[in-house]
Amino acid sequence: MNAEEIATDDSVVTDMADAVPATTGQDRGFVAEDIVFDASDLSVYYGDFRAVRDVNMLIQRKEITALIGPSGCGKSTVLRSFNRMNDLIPTARVEGNLLYRGVDLYDPRVDPVEVRRRIGMVFQKPNPFPKSIYDNVAYGPRVAGRKKGLDDVVESSLKKAALWDEVKDRLQESAIGMSGGQQQRLSIARAIASDPEVLLMDEPCSALDPIATARIEELMAELKDEYTILIVTHNMQQAARVSDRTAFFSVEVDETSDRRTGLLVEYTTTEKLFSNPDDERTENYITGRFG
Ligand SMILES: Nc1ncnc2c1ncn2[C@@H]1O[C@H](COP(=O)(O)OP(=O)(O)O)[C@@H](O)[C@H]1O
Ligand SMILES: [Mg+2]
Repeated sequence: MNAEEIATDDSVVTDMADAVPATTGQDRGFVAEDIVFDASDLSVYYGDFRAVRDVNMLIQRKEITALIGPSGCGKSTVLRSFNRMNDLIPTARVEGNLLYRGVDLYDPRVDPVEVRRRIGMVFQKPNPFPKSIYDNVAYGPRVAGRKKGLDDVVESSLKKAALWDEVKDRLQESAIGMSGGQQQRLSIARAIASDPEVLLMDEPCSALDPIATARIEELMAELKDEYTILIVTHNMQQAARVSDRTAFFSVEVDETSDRRTGLLVEYTTTEKLFSNPDDERTENYITGRFG
């Protein structure tokens, strides 16, 4: 469907599912009908500063795609561009193309609020509202105007986030009293409650202990049956454990301006990236020769 139709059609998201992706990528093991995102020559700027460039990625449905690389290489910036969260930063803008289900995500007529409902986000630090567990999960559906069936949405979201058994007897208690790992699963339940297709996770385990981290990793493996997941992680072992494909980003320093720009160096299956990468910079990073 074209942008004109998007502008006039309330059911744009349903229709997006029928759109044909621009690139097929069969040669890299992608199934054309199942390409959720198609980023080509994407750069993200903050004002004049190009924070990251050369983002060429197809994202396959119901896979886990990991973004790794040194601090400052633009992982969070790229992740936020995938659900227009960068729109909330006044200086941020994208160049290049980013298709979601074949539709230009940055077409001015695409509604960013609907985009963020379809493409949910989980942050590094769990950020529950100072409200009850129930109200945290019900928040998104309520904002969207839903009144009926909230109990069912809350229960099924908490079940999918592997949290139901721990909280079912205290749904009216404050979410603030939960452990960090529980709060992070609550953040996932909250995203799930809005019925997204994609979950973006920005270092979701970096504030958690190893046991809580393992639970989130197990949960991600379960969620993959239903959702497409992109995860930023600074933990290479985590990327290797949980993801199907991995994108390695690096940083280049411009000698005259001393500006650092992130770039996508290599994007392939996780198995290949960690065992037999094509690019020497990837090799150096995964073997610890470069931080
Ligand atoms: N809101 C912002 N305004 C200006 N520059 C930013 C902003 N957020 C990030 N940057 C810059 O963009 C680059 C990439 O940052 P980021 O995406 O946070 O990297 P990573 O997540 O890989 O550590 C860095 O140079 C950072 O300083
Ligand atoms: Mg980051």
